[in-house]
Amino acid sequence: MSIFSTLEGVSSTVFSNIFIQLPYPEGDLSGQTVIVTGSNQGLGFEASRHLLRLGVEKLIMAVRNLKKGEAARQELLQSTSREESSVEVWPLDMDSYVSVKSFASRAAALPRLDVLLANAGLIANTFTVSEEDERTITVNVVSTFLLVALLVPKLQESASKFNITPRITIPNSALHYIASLEQLDPQNEGGIFESLNNKEATNMAGRYPLSKLLVLFGVRAFADQFAQSKAPLVIINTPNPSFCKSQLARETDNVGLRVGEKLLARSTEMGSRALVHAVMADEKSNGQYLTNCHIHSPSCIVTNGKGVLIQEAFFKELVTKLEKIAPGVTSAQSSSLGLSRKNQDV
Ligand SMILES: NC(=O)c1ccc[n+]([C@@H]2O[C@H](COP(=O)([O-])OP(=O)(O)OC[C@H]3O[C@@H](n4cnc5c(N)ncnc54)[C@H](OP(=O)(O)O)[C@@H]3O)[C@@H](O)[C@H]2O)c1
Repeated sequence: MSIFSTLEGVSSTVFSNIFIQLPYPEGDLSGQTVIVTGSNQGLGFEASRHLLRLGVEKLIMAVRNLKKGEAARQELLQSTSREESSVEVWPLDMDSYVSVKSFASRAAALPRLDVLLANAGLIANTFTVSEEDERTITVNVVSTFLLVALLVPKLQESASKFNITPRITIPNSALHYIASLEQLDPQNEGGIFESLNNKEATNMAGRYPLSKLLVLFGVRAFADQFAQSKAPLVIINTPNPSFCKSQLARETDNVGLRVGEKLLARSTEMGSRALVHAVMADEKSNGQYLTNCHIHSPSCIVTNGKGVLIQEAFFKELVTKLEKIAPGVTSAQSSSLGLSRKNQDV
């Protein structure tokens, strides 16, 4: 992490949260079907409320706790006066590949899919493993891109059938500016994921920023593939809602964070406007990091020569991992997804 990159991340968050009010989402989403993961609370819940207000025909709330999901559904229906049938609650546990795959199979039977807001995420305090990686990496990165890859065919099919441009939005964070690159060196023995699974070499305080940096690399790589593909365009982007008062840091006992939250954090309603803006953004947002509802340069550690090499190595490993989890998820659609042989040849 460079001092300039850290200063940029910190100053942009302070400036945004003190001086910037995000535009209230406007527009017409009638007829659209939207999936929002982690929508029972926080940013996902507030984004869902905006999406319903803007007229989505069907909102699928993808949650790991159905009781919490149903309570949130009732609150959404009440506050938006929408009809019962406009919101469904489906189970999705991002700690489990089986759950992600069964969710995607169910979504494949939807008549149409316009948007995936892959919002579910966490900050973990301790190093624990779920599936084959440290939990933050499994939830924020691997399962998130597994869900993306599994839903691409449905999004592309909907694009052809309904003449639409579907969107995939994954929240990011200015904390990616302070991510340490040590465990991302492609030269590390065993590669990037193996390095990230080295408990002794892991500082959990830096794990969440690192996960959001990996989201940026993944979004940029998927966007390149989508842009090159002959299949209908699917837009993928990664907006930063900035520091918001939510349950995200519930596992941490960092006093500085709690004080910072009181003094500086936005409401989740305000932050959710950034997510809804990204969901409604046009082709120019494909592969982009957005801040305050504008396309913004990510950290130079993403775009410089070393970042380009890390992105390439990470994406190769990610594609291999996704293929192992769900054989054919990338190669069977390689012509539509546009995944080049280079990316699979690892
Ligand atoms: N808050 C911020 O300052 C901030 C800033 C930048 C980016 N973001 C990003 O915004 C997104 C939403 O965060 P938030 O602030 O709204 O946090 P939050 O209030 O903690 O909400 C996170 C949501 O993700 C769900 N989730 C966590 N682990 C899951 C799993 N294994 N399977 C399924 N769902 C899971 C949670 O479900 P449960 O309720 O069941 O735990 C919850 O619904 C995250 O991607 C976060 O990284 C947040």
